[in-house]
Amino acid sequence: MSFGFKGRALRSAAAIALISALGTPVLAEEITYVSGVVGKAADNFAALVKPWEDMTGNKVTMVPMPASTSDQFGQYRLWLAAGNTDIDLYQTDVIWAPQLADSFVDLTEVSKDLAPTHFPSIIQSQTVNGKLVALPIFTDAPALYYRKDLLEKYNVAVPKTWDELTVAAQTIQDGERKDGKGDFWGFVWQGNAYEGLTCNALEWVKSFGGGQIVEQDGTISINNEKAAKALETAKGWVGTISPSGVLAYQEEEARGVWQTGNAAFMRNWPYAYGLGNGDDSAVKGLFSVSTLPVGAEGDSSAATLGGWNVAVSKFSKHQEAAISLAMYLAGPEAQKQRAINESSLPTIVALYDDADIAAAQPIIPQWKDVFLNAVPRPSAPTLGKYNEVSSKFWTAVHETLSGNGSAADNLAGLEADLTDIKGDAW
Ligand code: GLC
Repeated sequence: MSFGFKGRALRSAAAIALISALGTPVLAEEITYVSGVVGKAADNFAALVKPWEDMTGNKVTMVPMPASTSDQFGQYRLWLAAGNTDIDLYQTDVIWAPQLADSFVDLTEVSKDLAPTHFPSIIQSQTVNGKLVALPIFTDAPALYYRKDLLEKYNVAVPKTWDELTVAAQTIQDGERKDGKGDFWGFVWQGNAYEGLTCNALEWVKSFGGGQIVEQDGTISINNEKAAKALETAKGWVGTISPSGVLAYQEEEARGVWQTGNAAFMRNWPYAYGLGNGDDSAVKGLFSVSTLPVGAEGDSSAATLGGWNVAVSKFSKHQEAAISLAMYLAGPEAQKQRAINESSLPTIVALYDDADIAAAQPIIPQWKDVFLNAVPRPSAPTLGKYNEVSSKFWTAVHETLSGNGSAADNLAGLEADLTDIKGDAW
């Protein structure tokens, strides 16, 4: 096996030499990359991979997937279980590594020079039993987006607690509606029943001092009064400062309301920063970002740790080229381009001191500490069961927000479900 791989590597080195000598590619391979599509990621992808295509003579086709990470996960798990050979690379969510580890190629050896330039905690999150399952391409930690102009207009300070946010959002919403903006809302976020709601609700719970659903040592902690209070607080927003439709919102729906100028506050990831400052945005230059609010003074703000990686399928028939593309996408050139064009947070430490990135997307250097202190979802302690755990959690939260049962009752039921799923051990 390793001999075969070396043989291919030698042939490919020869092929690259031929490319340089003749100026035309001689060993073009067609590589397929699947990725969910949020914002302008699909539009930008062709330009992102172009330097790699020029360098290697290979061609990359991106297969766009639905924006919901939960939907992607369901589809990828089926494809991988069936040994799909059509897809060479998968763009993977930070939470998936333990669940999909067996289907991907170990990238430890090939990235031994590149990996140490990344934040060690991110590399760690993609390492399962010593195997580097995927290479990080960007990290993620959400912000509270707020309209500077409207805070000024209504003489409101940037809210520090969720209660302050509630009051500020209501004040601005009432004022804007009186001014004839009937569609204006105080606060938009992600309330659909999917992984994004797990992220939002973990932030509420953690920032009220209610723990992390399942703690790092595997203890199920979610059934507690602070968590219930956090969920009841969020329930109070639905139909008041947030549209009832927020219960079907993902990232892009929230951004849609925000970017057309119809919301005072938004919870979203950094990708919305660059887009919000685009020429086609109604809020260009009018907003800023802050850390998410806390439950009460003395509590700490909590941002859920997100992020995306690239993994090479072990069923790929173009493994060597796919690995080369993964290395390229995780490397400094592509990460810089993505940071500038999509306001994605790099995972390479040095890029936080890059002047071009700081000038194009000031949120990036500003957000380094936020993501370094971000709260991980319990995918490491729950191992292969994370998806089930998360889906039980977001369901209990969605029921509570929809008025089906109190937070306390739904969290008691959730604890029982999680205990069953855990069994003797995660
Ligand atoms: C963002 C995060 C990802 C998270 C998803 C939830 O894409 O980077 O980690 O799972 O949002 O919607």
